[in-house]
Amino acid sequence: MSAIDSNSQNQRVTIDVQLERTRWSDHLAEETKAGLSDEPPWIPPVWFYDEIGSDLFDQITRLPEYYPTSAERQILGDHACEIARITGAEHLIELGSGTSEKTSLLLDALGENGLRRFIPFDCSEEILRSASGSIAAERPEIEVHAVVGDFHEHLDALPMEGMTLLAFLGSTIGNFEPDQRKRFLAEVGTVLGSHDWLLLGTDLVKSQDRLTAAYDDAQGVTARFNLNSLDVMNAELGADFERDGFDHMAVWNQSESRVEMHLVALRDHRVTLGALDGLTLELAGGEHIRTEISTKFTREQVTTELNGAGLEVVRSFTDDNEDFLVSLARPAQNRITQR
Ligand code: SAH
Ligand code: AVI
Repeated sequence: MSAIDSNSQNQRVTIDVQLERTRWSDHLAEETKAGLSDEPPWIPPVWFYDEIGSDLFDQITRLPEYYPTSAERQILGDHACEIARITGAEHLIELGSGTSEKTSLLLDALGENGLRRFIPFDCSEEILRSASGSIAAERPEIEVHAVVGDFHEHLDALPMEGMTLLAFLGSTIGNFEPDQRKRFLAEVGTVLGSHDWLLLGTDLVKSQDRLTAAYDDAQGVTARFNLNSLDVMNAELGADFERDGFDHMAVWNQSESRVEMHLVALRDHRVTLGALDGLTLELAGGEHIRTEISTKFTREQVTTELNGAGLEVVRSFTDDNEDFLVSLARPAQNRITQR
């Protein structure tokens, strides 16, 4: 499914919709039903990103406590030209692109080295349409081909033509469960051709205080972001969560090396989710639902996991505080000659 749109400046934006609405809703319903039936219950993080949630996430990226965005921006500001020189990419794909705000640093540097096409990829069509329109208006020299898709399902639908840099920024990979992460990286290893590259942003392990503060800010923006997922499930799944009956909680899980966000029941709840075959969720006061995991990595772990997917790290970059890591990797050269 593909549609060619023109924005107000008449630049060409192609929107390729891989997510079939009914299938996507059914898939999310199934995953959420499985999660809420688990002990303890959890939900997939995709429920954060309606229009309100995407705007709250944008506010989070500018909070003093939330260092990942500014750290990654510093890295891209310092090294985008080198990344452009090494990769020589003509096509830039960005997975989970959101507003693509930091990506402008890459687009500038790659633009001076012959970039021809930008492919933002996200499950939210609204955010993609808005980001694609702005980018096309600012950069008439490049083609914008947006893909609405699920990065767990539709990597094989990516247009891989010519030398491509596949960027996955923001440490969104940290929101995946370990087995999901392994599958995802293996799939990336398969879709990349011998001249293609992966640029992967990962948040690094640091003091517990800084980690939990980043997910429980003083202004309460992250709390609103977390609680908004209840409103989204009420609207999308015919649920009757009472938002004022839950509290935001962020905890460091040392054994899994991740920050977890939870919603803690302030009183007893009996929630019905109409679209999940009328599933009923009973929560006693004090019980919680896990809404997100945000894994924090060591450099060694990132290298090992990329190697496990047949990728070799050619360069890696950190910010001045060594808070965040951006790795530039390609299909392992010995693997290519063996094929
Ligand atoms: N890359 C940006 C935005 C990160 S927010 C940054 O670094 O700041 C995570 C983004 O992933 C959101 O835009 C959300 O809509 C998107 N997303 C979440 N689940 C997704 C999925 N399953 N498939 C594709 N995109 C997804
Ligand atoms: C998108 N993702 C990488 C963010 C993170 O840090 O895990 C989402 C987020 N959750 C709370 N604050 C930001």
